[in-house]
Amino acid sequence: MNYSVIQMFEMEALAQGQHSDAFCRALFEHGVFYVREDAHIKRMHDAAMDVVMDLFQNGTLEQKQALTNPTPRMRRGFSALEAESTAKITNGGQYTDYSMVYSVGLGDNLFPSAAFEQVWQDYFNALYARSQTIAAAVLRAAGADAGQDLAQVLDCDPLLRFRYFPEVPADRCAEQEPRRMAPHYDLSIITLIQQTPCANGFVSLQCEIDGQFVDIPPVPGAMVVFCGAVAPLLSNGRIRAPRHQVASPPMDRRVGSSRTSSVLFLRPTPDFEFSVPLARASGLDVEFTGDTATFGDWIGGNYRNLRTAASPVTAE
Ligand SMILES: [Fe+2]
Repeated sequence: MNYSVIQMFEMEALAQGQHSDAFCRALFEHGVFYVREDAHIKRMHDAAMDVVMDLFQNGTLEQKQALTNPTPRMRRGFSALEAESTAKITNGGQYTDYSMVYSVGLGDNLFPSAAFEQVWQDYFNALYARSQTIAAAVLRAAGADAGQDLAQVLDCDPLLRFRYFPEVPADRCAEQEPRRMAPHYDLSIITLIQQTPCANGFVSLQCEIDGQFVDIPPVPGAMVVFCGAVAPLLSNGRIRAPRHQVASPPMDRRVGSSRTSSVLFLRPTPDFEFSVPLARASGLDVEFTGDTATFGDWIGGNYRNLRTAASPVTAE
């Protein structure tokens, strides 16, 4: 199957509420689509990429340590290559994420300089606003605005994570370990992804559609949008939250396989309350005994499970 099943939508059409049948199909059947990005967002992405790649590649150990948050639940600052493991969070193995990460949120950020902060703050603000517009279109298309105040729901706790996936070593090639990051769905309402291609053309990002993982290649001038695990909870289970993963290249495509992926998770605030039976009916693996739980309980549990090895299937 090729990626042409993944539809492309225009930002203006979505913002104006032109909810075609194709948009509803994309949400309800796949939970993933492309949206055209404008030159402004692309320029801000490129500026943010330049400064963070300089940090990744030229920053000293001391600089990186100063930017590393000791509290793993608090996704802020620098996270070293292989310091995180989506496989462990999802109980899907022991392998690490073969990437390094820089993360920012609404507060408590760790910036290496004032110039860096300016570039990243502008980028974060623009991407957050864009994600709110897209999420409003998604939720309206699913009829979620009937019973809920969307402005309140979309006043969120966004998290922006820039991942650099270097060329994999031989022991992380697909013959040894098929993935750079384990299959998971996102802890978000929606997730926006701006990815840069591998120089050798290898496609790493894959999404599960109709039981198969299909390639989601970088498309010039477009962002990928995944619906996250909170989208079904806001749409009475109508919107799908697809699993996705990051594939490793085979040995003969190792050289030239580095890539980047800038990911904005539009997350609800910790007090967001949801129905536990609806979460179960939507296929989410939640372990609560009451009828309702909060996003804070859920996300906190996700990270506690890093230590207790239970079986949630969500990740960031
Ligand atoms: Fe993800």
